[in-house]
Amino acid sequence: MANIGIVFGTNNVDSQTVAEKIAANFDSDLLNAKELTVDFLNNHEKLIFVASTHKYGELQQDFKAKLDVVAEADLKGKTLALAGLGGLEKHPDTFCDGLVEFLPVIRGAKLVGAYENPGYKFENSLSLINGKFVGFVVDIHSDNEWEQKLGSWVSSIKSEF
Ligand SMILES: Cc1cc2nc3c(=O)[nH]c(=O)nc-3n(C[C@H](O)[C@H](O)[C@H](O)COP(=O)(O)O)c2cc1C
Repeated sequence: MANIGIVFGTNNVDSQTVAEKIAANFDSDLLNAKELTVDFLNNHEKLIFVASTHKYGELQQDFKAKLDVVAEADLKGKTLALAGLGGLEKHPDTFCDGLVEFLPVIRGAKLVGAYENPGYKFENSLSLINGKFVGFVVDIHSDNEWEQKLGSWVSSIKSEF
């Protein structure tokens, strides 16, 4: 069993693409949120959740449907990072809002990977808290340099993990 469990929720594969790039940096198990179980969460000491925002600010639906599974798991003492995908141009008022839906159900885990705005312009984002995003955020459709940004973020969480 790998040390890091990476779970992604995706509608059109974008979050899977990002999750696979993150996974390539670690000894990790990669799982679609559709398949998520309490055992998967309990069996990994380190976790990364990757999910897009849809429906005007909501967490991607497969992951949203598993929030009760996340809440049921024993995350106490685990290290966890979040990564969110969104759209800056069409959804500047709800940019990556869905990420915050994880916050109430990851109690007990040590949340790492807070992320400074890399210069993205948007109107509002619930995931921007006290001047930092709660995790990596990205619009892979409008940012040609997203892979470099992801690489830097992965390096930063490696030291925290
Ligand atoms: C119907 C629809 C609604 C969306 N709503 C939001 C939104 O509220 N906020 C946001 O940041 N992005 C929003 N997006 C953009 C997606 O999050 C973005 O395209 C992402 O890359 C999709 O990733 P996925 O293929 O993993 O689901 C929306 C996209 C669609 C198609």
